[in-house]
Amino acid sequence: MKLRQYQRVAQYEINRQRFKKIMKELSNNSTRITNSADTEHLPSRQNFDNECKVLEKLDGQIPINNVLLCDEAIHFLKTFHSDVEDGGHWRSNNCSRHALIIIIPYRDRQQHLCILLRYIIPMLKRQHIEFRIIVAEQAGNETFNKGKLMNAAFIESTKLFSGHCVVFHDVDLIPEDDRNIYPCPWQPTHLSVAIDEMNYRLQYEMLVGGVLAMRKEQFETVNGFSNEFWGWGGEDDDMAYRIKLAGLRILRPPKNIARYKMLRHKKQVPAKWNSRIKLLSGVNKRFLLDGLNNANYSVEKLTRHKFYTHILINVGKQPL
Ligand code: BGC
Ligand code: MN
Repeated sequence: MKLRQYQRVAQYEINRQRFKKIMKELSNNSTRITNSADTEHLPSRQNFDNECKVLEKLDGQIPINNVLLCDEAIHFLKTFHSDVEDGGHWRSNNCSRHALIIIIPYRDRQQHLCILLRYIIPMLKRQHIEFRIIVAEQAGNETFNKGKLMNAAFIESTKLFSGHCVVFHDVDLIPEDDRNIYPCPWQPTHLSVAIDEMNYRLQYEMLVGGVLAMRKEQFETVNGFSNEFWGWGGEDDDMAYRIKLAGLRILRPPKNIARYKMLRHKKQVPAKWNSRIKLLSGVNKRFLLDGLNNANYSVEKLTRHKFYTHILINVGKQPL
């Protein structure tokens, strides 16, 4: 969708003061939504500079084998990255940077997952970033609900693990350049700016789909993703509006390094355009009521694999 079309579907400019007032009222009534700063301590800039002189050690472009088999990918990781702890946790011994929870919404893409892990684990280690990898799989065969799945994964993983920030990561997007540092940003940051499949061009200004990094408290402030988008598309556009409504900005790294390869897959049929537009156009009335604070789901299984924590989640089914 083009930016102009967007501007027509949603009049999202509400006054920042009014938003703050609503948030305050809401956080008095609800424990989940908070505006409070993360209490965990982020390493200071000075520590970062003294102990984490890693930037010069980055390789730049990463050669990617996009037909790598699962066995090969896992063999590589076991051989060279056995220091990753069970459940997919790693932190550097000699340099402390921010801690990220990487959430990968998933269904039926085993090879993609293996390839993503094969490239992202060594890259995050080179970047000296502490990480936890969470694979959130939707149980059953009902229509996919990526937004609700990511909300559930956020709620569950923040119960289990500490971490300053969260990165929502499509399973089929492989970073092509390790200078695209995975951030714990002061503003929500859209990392997958340039994708090979889209001729390395950002499709539209409000796009936040693909790979999105946010501080935990920012994600809580926007009330997470909508739970209402069933099927392919729209939940990320809704998030872009939430970010604007909250008075936050979308940052992007430069497009010459924020490059990704998209792994091949059968394209999903998009959810009906009309219902997506209808939902989107009501985002300003809906977003405080639809999101983290009303996500109903159940955890069917939680397994710590060597390189990731797998959470199997039942998100229910699409209402008729
Ligand atoms: C969809 C988004 C998707 C984007 C890029 C839009 O039409 O609504 O969910 O990320 O296209 O493919
Ligand atoms: Mn995809």
